[in-house]
Amino acid sequence: MKAPDEHFKQVISHAKEYGFIFQSSEIYDGLSAVYDYGQLGVQLKNNIRQYWWQAMTRLNENIVGIDAAILMHPTTWKASGHVDAFNDPLIDNKDSKKRYRADVLIEDHCAKLEAKIDKEVKKAEKRFGDAFDKEQFLATNARVLELTQRSKEILSRMAQSLEKEDLADVKALIEELGIVCPVSGSKNWTEVKQFNLMFGTKLGASAESATDLYLRPETAQGIFVNFLNVQKSGRMKIPFGIAQTGKAFRNEIVARQFIFRMREFEQMEMQFFIAPGTQKQWYEHWKEARLKWHLSLGMGEDNYRFHDHEKLAHYADAAADIEFAFPFGFKELEGIHSRTDFDLSRHEEFSGKKLQYFDPEMKESYVPYVVETSIGLDRMFLAILSKSLVEEELDGSSRTVMRIPAVLAPLKAAVLPLVKKDRLPDLAKEIIDTLKFEFEVAYDEKDAVGRRYRRQDAIGTPFCITVDHQSLEDRTVTIRHRDSMEQDRIAIDALAGLLREETAMSNWLKRIEL
Ligand code: GAP
Repeated sequence: MKAPDEHFKQVISHAKEYGFIFQSSEIYDGLSAVYDYGQLGVQLKNNIRQYWWQAMTRLNENIVGIDAAILMHPTTWKASGHVDAFNDPLIDNKDSKKRYRADVLIEDHCAKLEAKIDKEVKKAEKRFGDAFDKEQFLATNARVLELTQRSKEILSRMAQSLEKEDLADVKALIEELGIVCPVSGSKNWTEVKQFNLMFGTKLGASAESATDLYLRPETAQGIFVNFLNVQKSGRMKIPFGIAQTGKAFRNEIVARQFIFRMREFEQMEMQFFIAPGTQKQWYEHWKEARLKWHLSLGMGEDNYRFHDHEKLAHYADAAADIEFAFPFGFKELEGIHSRTDFDLSRHEEFSGKKLQYFDPEMKESYVPYVVETSIGLDRMFLAILSKSLVEEELDGSSRTVMRIPAVLAPLKAAVLPLVKKDRLPDLAKEIIDTLKFEFEVAYDEKDAVGRRYRRQDAIGTPFCITVDHQSLEDRTVTIRHRDSMEQDRIAIDALAGLLREETAMSNWLKRIEL
């Protein structure tokens, strides 16, 4: 098995080599933290989006979808708190002129302490062999306890200083820890300043009359401002949800780890409107429902965990992340937030319009509470890509295979004539012509069939259908399964049924409800 950073490098180069993801504007040396999806990437991305969309809007009769504009009235962002509070604390190094997120510098320092703990664990593992009890070691070893305590104290002081907006103390902490600029190696730091993450733009023909707008930093606000429109026009009864997918933009300072943190990305968000007082129950419901959605893809229960937030955003009364085991460790993939009535109340206040619901059972009007589920589509893409790409040792050889869940795979099958003659290509094309209305299928006739199998393995195609001379006689073909590499002989007429059984979204969606 490859080391995690080696594996991550392979994921990035594989994504480019096979047409999943390219650096944006690469011929101009690229635009940092902005990426383009290639011919296979767009298929995988569309499939993930569809799988989310259908799970939300088809499996829940009380959830509907919308598609709000990216540009919104600028007061939206005043009301939501983004103008005043959507900030990162930044610090510059005077020698290298490089800019950093102050909290990330401190977190990186703590990550080094964690790495030291890991080193101690590895040393002890070697020393004690089979008798080693990791949990006991972590709970009792003096050096490990000291490092753990130090890391905890640093992070807690940072959290408190950020909460109090005490930026001078954040700088003091960086100095006390002796953190140096990774580029210049110096400790010559500026003050820490807040930096707003929203991208600004202008609406209007002339500079004088132009209005300042923002590119939306989250899709959620498009849902909040449409709450009444949807409720009234759809005659929705609480509890009900509004789902949306779409682009969001953040001027991330520390944009790294490939498509994990981008400046232009896509979110899939759902706001669930509920009666005040029921938020705890719905929060637990959505935590469980969202984890089920992830697990239905069969990428291994061990790769997911919940992280409950101790420090809550000003609008939330509970929040948790679903974290995923990315190649660089467990990191946030999705957030589930109990947002109270904060957003709708603020939009009421700033717009002067009532955003209330008359509850026929309670016989009263109220501003609904909201539980939100919010997942980054690109992050989900990275989760799939990084977990499915494996190098397998076979008898005397190896293969690179992407074990992408079949429902999401960019291509469902490739049809391969064994040779380029004897009417085999004609039959292969005839098969494609029957399958193409329902499935994404490709044709490949170049190179030996073994090499063609490897090519399809490398892009995650779950099935290869080989047409040979026997096919002309009895209308059967060989179907090869990507993961087991097993081959079966089946009738051409049975192909669509098999592909439907194994890859159709409707079949996979049923697993979520189990
Ligand atoms: N409406 C709530 C909200 O936007 P968030 O935690 O800021 O919450 C939700 O973002 C999700 O969006 C994250 O869990 C992550 O998957 C994704 N996300 C956030 N910032 C991102 C970025 N810069 N690049 C890629 N995905 C991002």
